[in-house]
Amino acid sequence: MTQTTVALKESKSSPGNLPPHDVRNLSYADGGRKRIEWANNDMPVLGRIRQRFEKEKPLAGRRMSACLHVTAETANLMCTLKAGGADLVLCASNPLSTQDDVAASLVRDFGICVYAIKGEDNDSYYKHIEAAIHHRPSITMDDGADLVHGLHANYAEYASDIVASMEETTTGVIRLRALDRQGQLKFPVIAVNDAQTKNLFDNRYGTGQSTVDGIIRATDILVAGRTFVIAGYGWCGKGFAMRARGMGANIIVTEVNPIRAIEARMDGFQVMPMADAAPVGDVFCTLTGNMHVIRPEHFERMKDGAIVCNSGHFDIELDLKGLARMAQKVDKGVRPLVDAYHLDGDRRVFVLAEGRLVNLSAAHGHPASVMDMSFATQALTAEYALKNEGKLEVHVHRVPDHIEDFISRLKLETLGVGIDTLTPDQEKYLASWEIGT
Ligand SMILES: NC(=O)c1ccc[n+]([C@@H]2O[C@H](COP(=O)([O-])OP(=O)(O)OC[C@H]3O[C@@H](n4cnc5c(N)ncnc54)[C@H](O)[C@@H]3O)[C@@H](O)[C@H]2O)c1
Repeated sequence: MTQTTVALKESKSSPGNLPPHDVRNLSYADGGRKRIEWANNDMPVLGRIRQRFEKEKPLAGRRMSACLHVTAETANLMCTLKAGGADLVLCASNPLSTQDDVAASLVRDFGICVYAIKGEDNDSYYKHIEAAIHHRPSITMDDGADLVHGLHANYAEYASDIVASMEETTTGVIRLRALDRQGQLKFPVIAVNDAQTKNLFDNRYGTGQSTVDGIIRATDILVAGRTFVIAGYGWCGKGFAMRARGMGANIIVTEVNPIRAIEARMDGFQVMPMADAAPVGDVFCTLTGNMHVIRPEHFERMKDGAIVCNSGHFDIELDLKGLARMAQKVDKGVRPLVDAYHLDGDRRVFVLAEGRLVNLSAAHGHPASVMDMSFATQALTAEYALKNEGKLEVHVHRVPDHIEDFISRLKLETLGVGIDTLTPDQEKYLASWEIGT
């Protein structure tokens, strides 16, 4: 491996001069700083971009608001944007995914304004998003579109300040495309999620590994020999199925898309409706971006001890209100982040992390090595949006190919992997139609 780490530069504020913030406890910062630095070791592509940003300051003086999972990897993105000259605010994109030590270190050690507390209630979650909106950004970054939603729903008068918004996840892109289709989108959006440098790696290998990690940390179960029911066979579902099978689980996939269902079947998994999977599954995980994928009619058929969780963006994939209505009693916190719902017939269904994404609530989310590419894509796309200020139409756009090409080549270089290049003859052949057999 030729990977080289680019050191992070601290920007400590004096205790009386900290940036505005609302975090759990600044005394957690030492641990957070160590984890941010550890993640940086595995983020060489972002590091190189940070080095260039430091010199060229492509984001100089621009206000940015980011609504992302507050993790050690996100901290590295924030340091990169700050190195580029951005005036930044970060808030959480999920009430349970914040790493409080990282949030504290970003404020104390890197001078970044953060509003995020793990376990915050909905009120505080939305107040933090409002604080990010009141920063009056010209660039926004979202993971799930809650910030852009807030801007459209409650602060439409600020929309004209926005040059563009970057969206990190599938669910956010789906929401923003719906807004665009209805003709109500107020500024250009770039679908970072749809870049191959993002979803092929982050959604597949990142969600795959970290979802297994979250389930194990929450429950300590042995995966081998258990039946995992996986709802949704997109990149996230595929990654999770691949990793759970690797640890010895039997996999059942449920789908609504016939092509994806055939793919799952040909990848060697059983495919069936959720109603048939419910009585045989041991562990259920939704990764669909859809609502109420597991409902009372399914909970009704589950075995005693079934474990149910979600790794899709929002907590609506499981109908937990329906489950609560069926339950005779709910024991909260039988373990950290595990609630037991007692159903008739002495059956218990164990729900992890209140149905919020289990990989970020019960574990630390995606490993840094994949976030290196996702966040390199974010940083370069932000730079591209500012370079093209006023030129992007108000629609949802793709990440330009040259950004994906640059990031994938740099990632290969940091991994010490070489590839072939087309010969002139091959280039000509691929561009022609004349030559046959
Ligand atoms: N946990 C994380 O860290 C993380 C990371 C990336 C993406 N996500 C989120 O995970 C979700 C899935 O992302 P993706 O990129 O795999 O999306 P995708 O659109 O590629 O795949 C989702 C799949 O779910 C299927 N589906 C929809 N409704 C269903 C239903 N009722 N039953 C069974 N299958 C159904 C769809 O047909 C599709 O094949 C999204 O919400 C996304 O935002 C989470």
